[in-house]
Amino acid sequence: MNKVYLVGFMGCGKSAIGKRLSFFTKLPFYDMDHEIVQKTGMTIPQIFETYGEERFRDMETEFLQTFRDEKCIIATGGGVAMREENRKLMRAQGLVFFLDAPFRDIWRRIATDKNRPIVQRSSRSEIETLFHKRYDAYKKSAHFVVLTKQRSLSKVTEYIA
Ligand code: S3P
Repeated sequence: MNKVYLVGFMGCGKSAIGKRLSFFTKLPFYDMDHEIVQKTGMTIPQIFETYGEERFRDMETEFLQTFRDEKCIIATGGGVAMREENRKLMRAQGLVFFLDAPFRDIWRRIATDKNRPIVQRSSRSEIETLFHKRYDAYKKSAHFVVLTKQRSLSKVTEYIA
């Protein structure tokens, strides 16, 4: 299997599916947020607070550039597919899967999460608007769209593998 990028909105299951996929394929798994937290020694809310969102977006792009050559599974952050340069890089480097989950499922998973600054500062309807606004960019970035609705983690993982 080639390098795999998982893209999609917050809470669509990128990390959970990435870990399983890594287990089945024996390829290393990297969670972008986790890697950025490790590298900076700060939480995502602290990075947003201290450096601002744009700097965080630059860190995401830097991360993608760092992992150019390694064969691995990468769970991207929910905003990664918004930058054209990121989309180009991912599509050129590996296979990109968009995990397309219904907003209702997503909201259930992220509503009370304190570690996602965008959720912290927004209402449900603002997040839903963002979800719709981003949808086309996720689609555009991906080689494959995986509908996760009513599919178990194992089924989605099996499909990708
Ligand atoms: C973000 C998604 C988060 C994280 C940050 C911003 C976004 O990652 O990168 O809070 O803009 O959608 P997950 O998609 O892993 O939650």
